[in-house]
Amino acid sequence: MPAMELGKDIHWVGAIDWDRRLFDELIPLPDGTTYNSYLVKGRNKIALIDTVDPTKEKVLLDNLREAGVKSIDYIITHHAEQDHSGMIPRILELYPMAKVVCTPKCKDQIGILLHVPGDRIITVADSETLDLGGRTLEFIHAQWVHWPETMLTYLREDKILFSCDFLGSHLAQSDLFATDEARVYRSAKRYYAEIMMPFRSHILKHLDRLAKYDIQMICPSHGPIYRRPAFIFEAYRDWTSEKPKKEVVLAYVSMHGSTQLLADRLVEALMRRGIAVKPFNLSRTDIGELAMELVDASTIVIGTPTVLGGAHPLAVYAAYLANALRPKTKFVSIIGSYGWGGKTVEQLAGMIGNLKVEVIEPVLIKGMPTDEDYSKIDALADAIVRKHGEAGIE
Ligand code: FEO
Repeated sequence: MPAMELGKDIHWVGAIDWDRRLFDELIPLPDGTTYNSYLVKGRNKIALIDTVDPTKEKVLLDNLREAGVKSIDYIITHHAEQDHSGMIPRILELYPMAKVVCTPKCKDQIGILLHVPGDRIITVADSETLDLGGRTLEFIHAQWVHWPETMLTYLREDKILFSCDFLGSHLAQSDLFATDEARVYRSAKRYYAEIMMPFRSHILKHLDRLAKYDIQMICPSHGPIYRRPAFIFEAYRDWTSEKPKKEVVLAYVSMHGSTQLLADRLVEALMRRGIAVKPFNLSRTDIGELAMELVDASTIVIGTPTVLGGAHPLAVYAAYLANALRPKTKFVSIIGSYGWGGKTVEQLAGMIGNLKVEVIEPVLIKGMPTDEDYSKIDALADAIVRKHGEAGIE
């Protein structure tokens, strides 16, 4: 995409990565992503807000050329992760007068990660401002969205928030803006689940702080720009709220069909009781989809056969992931089938220490389920309904 004008002397000069399918060698990107970089010109100074992933060097340099950039005074560096900072050394080389502007923690990080020399870096305090000449950048330190060195920038005169990774989405599209809000909602929720959810308490504080600003446009580092900030702020308020929804996530794997039968029975039993349930067969699922459903789920059920004396490795991975993502889930249970014994329940229950959950009596059965075993699954569904009711989850 060519450089795009967002307002007088404010340009998007980033890159669209249509083909990227994995981030951090972990997070699936079904819709690609963008690395948003912005150029803000004042009467006296020019600031580049974040750079792009080094794989998109040519795109950024072409866009700067197209935007008529002869010099850059400041590279506002919100975040040291390389998908935004990776081009800093090259920009410093091409624009010898440019200085990086970042938090003190970020200075350390880009020194370590990119070997940016300290004399090319200016550190800024929280709420400090930088005058470009008729345009004022206000820096907002925003720890743990999602690294400790992160900051955001508010462009006062134009009422634009440059929000770094915060409020973003991994979504490559030719429309620079979040025009199709339903589409962007799903991408932004997936992104929140995978990247921001572990830092929910920090996110809440930042949301409260940003509520005091008059923001007319949000320009994140990934995904479409929001011309209606209320859309993404309201979504984040919902996702970060304390109260989960009346939903069950069933993450399971089955080797020879017995755990599958239990999973099928639980899905049916919950549906009969009016509880929304989302089953994920872990041998096929996209973990981003699973993460997204964890955002609202009040109950997680892990289904696993016993193999080599414990849970199936895919079930172990699901438990590890849920524990790391720290959703607001209130209840957990385990179902599964074993042949002769093992420590499946103890193993999985011991892996979810980060979750503030009550464990509902697991259902572990021997071999292929009998009618009695199915009754136990029905009883688990009853217990989930009861627990939801007692917790006031509607
Ligand atoms: Fe998009 Fe945390 O980097």
